[in-house]
Order: sequence, then structure tokens, then C-alpha cells
Amino acid sequence: MTRRTSKVPASDSASDPTPPHDPCWRKSDWRSRVRKRLLEWFAGNARVLPWRTLPLPYNVWVSEIMLQQTQVATVLPYFHRWMEAFPTVEALASADEADLMRHWEGLGYYRRVRSMHAAAKKIMEDHGGVFPTRFEDVLALPGIGRYTAGAILSISQDQRLPILEGNTQRVFSRWIAMRGAPAEKHANALLWDFAETMLPRDGGNGTFNQAAMELGALVCTPKQPRCDECPIAGSCRAAKLGLQQEIPGKIKSIRYEDRTEFALVVPSPGGDTFLVRPLPDGARWSGLWDYPRPTEDAYQSVETVADWLSKELHLAPGCEIEVGARLKSIRHAVTKYRITLHVHAAILKTSGEPAELPAPWQWQSLDQLTEQPLSVTGRKITNWLAAQEQPLLW
Ligand code: ADE
Repeated sequence: MTRRTSKVPASDSASDPTPPHDPCWRKSDWRSRVRKRLLEWFAGNARVLPWRTLPLPYNVWVSEIMLQQTQVATVLPYFHRWMEAFPTVEALASADEADLMRHWEGLGYYRRVRSMHAAAKKIMEDHGGVFPTRFEDVLALPGIGRYTAGAILSISQDQRLPILEGNTQRVFSRWIAMRGAPAEKHANALLWDFAETMLPRDGGNGTFNQAAMELGALVCTPKQPRCDECPIAGSCRAAKLGLQQEIPGKIKSIRYEDRTEFALVVPSPGGDTFLVRPLPDGARWSGLWDYPRPTEDAYQSVETVADWLSKELHLAPGCEIEVGARLKSIRHAVTKYRITLHVHAAILKTSGEPAELPAPWQWQSLDQLTEQPLSVTGRKITNWLAAQEQPLLW
């Protein structure tokens, strides 16, 4: 068995990601203090950026799409060239795709351009060429998700819409010492909730959102955050607990084990029914029915599985299970196991009259099996057998 690790959320990271004893951000004086310090800092430290100087929805949209996966410094020359060539939604909608690609060359992730082109055409058709300002309409445009829609409408219209992207995930996680991985479902939902709660009630939503992103870009950086320069350090739970390096939490790696298992498809002498049994209590998938398939580590070859089945069926001397061809292989995952199941045909060779099957083994037809609760792989095998035009050949 080979061990491999994969980045997927481990199940224990799905537990409550907040420190339950100290929901500092539920207190409005904490929120007001943090907001005020952040906005004062932003007023003195914000970079002068063209989409901030003239925050029209179209300009903010273009900037936000370019800034996905890309640094501000890289984006700036592209943004200027783009705005000269395609200054409006209409210009973008009617542009030649090759021309758009040339203006994007070097930024990567070219699907972004195609989505923008399609979105501009949709704005022409559905909104008369005017960038929509209803959240649902913006969200319905190709290439725009909750973050981008919130960014466009909060920055260009001051709508009270939260945002959450890489920078703000990190900044907010640290402010409240949230240890879960921001990509994990519960942690992510909590951060969106936090992002919304932090927005001012009296305007300045776009400024707050940009300030939080700017703090993440310039001060609250992934490695070596500059806490000594941070306006929020006095209110930051991670700084207080010395957890800046641990937060945001990483998605935990699960150690996966690759396993090979075997199942046998054993037709009755007439060929119209197959050997199956309900899986015993305590076994994997107990209560479901399955073809002969032991799951213990000991069965590492199809021959050992045939021996196991001979014993299960109490075969008399001279009788045996003869293994035939491999019919198919099925890959599936169970908890930490990635299983490759090789399904072989097998035949029950008896001398004279076939013996009675010991309980709980039974012969069942494909029609019966269709009605039976089966293991996932048992169902796949049954469906495969039902789709064969010829009976099994040995
Ligand atoms: N990253 C993405 N959008 C941004 C913005 N508007 N301000 C700062 N950083 C950003």
C-alpha cells in the first residue's frame, strides 16, 4: 500500500473555527475602534491607483478582474493600455477577441478575458450598455462571483456589501484569531459574516473594503507581518496571542492510502443468478448487499479471495472457486482509502449436484439485485452486468 498526501480539508477542521470564549468582534466598541484606526491608516497610506481615482463600475470591474491572481504593480501598465483601447463596456463588447487577448498577453488566466467579453455583450443586451448596479444582476455576469460583485458595487456605488479575497481572509482571520483554514466551509462562512458586520453603517463601505485589502497587501502580509507598523495591532487577537504565523490556518493534509481489493462475480450454474450476501454487522457498509469481496488487509490477490470464498461457502473437498478473467476495475474512495477494486469472473466448480448455499449467501437475479440495497461498487457491478449483451464467458 502506498501512502500519499493530498490537500483536502480534514474533517476535524470542520469544527468551530472561532475561539468561543472571546467573540471580540460581536462588541460594537471593538468594531468601531478597529474601523476607525483602519480608515485613518488608509487615509495616510493608500496607494494612488487609477481605479481609485475614478471608481466607475467599469473601471473597478476591469481592475478587479486583472487583480485576481496578479499583483498591483504588474496590473498597472495593463490597466492603462486596456482603458485606452477599450474605455467602455460598449468598446469591450464590440472588440475583436484576438485584440483583447493581445492586451491581456502576459497576465495569464486567459479565461478571464473571454468571460469579460461575454459579460460586456450581456450588459449590452440586458442592460442597454450600462453597467448594472443591482447585486443580483452583477453576480449573474460571466466571471463575476460574490467577491467581485461586492467589490465593484461597494467601491463604485458605496453599497453595503462585504468582500472576502486572499488579503482580507488573512487580515480578518488574524484580527479575530480564527484558527480554521479560510477555504474551509465553516471558517469561510464565519469570515463573510465578520466582513459584513465590520462594514460601517453610515457610508464608506468601499473605502473600508479597500482599506482592509490594502492593509493585507502592505502590512498584514502572509509571512513576516509588520505588526509594529499595524494600526490594528492593539486590537488584534492573533497579535495578542502571538499567533500571527499560525493564522490563517492551513488546510490540513490527509494521508491517503492506496489499496487494491478484489471482488468476484460468480454466476449460478444456470448463469441467471449471481452469488451475493448482505454485509455483516460491523463491516464496511453493513446492511447493504454485495458480491463476494473481503475487505481485510490479508486479501492481496484474487487467488486469496477465491480461497476465502471457498471457506465461506464450506466447499467440500474436490469443489473449488475457479477464477476467470478480470471484468473491470473500479476506483473509489472510502474514508482515507483510495481503492482500486478489480472485479473478476469466477465459477463455482462442484462435483455432482451443487450444494446448498450456507446463510447468508444467496443466488439473486439481476432483477432482484436491482431492487436490493447494494454497496456503491455492488451497484456498479450490477449495472455493468445488466448492460452486457452476452452472458459472461470463461
Ligand atoms: N486587491 C484586489 N482589489 C483590490 C483593491 N481594490 N485594493 C487593494 N487591493 C486589491
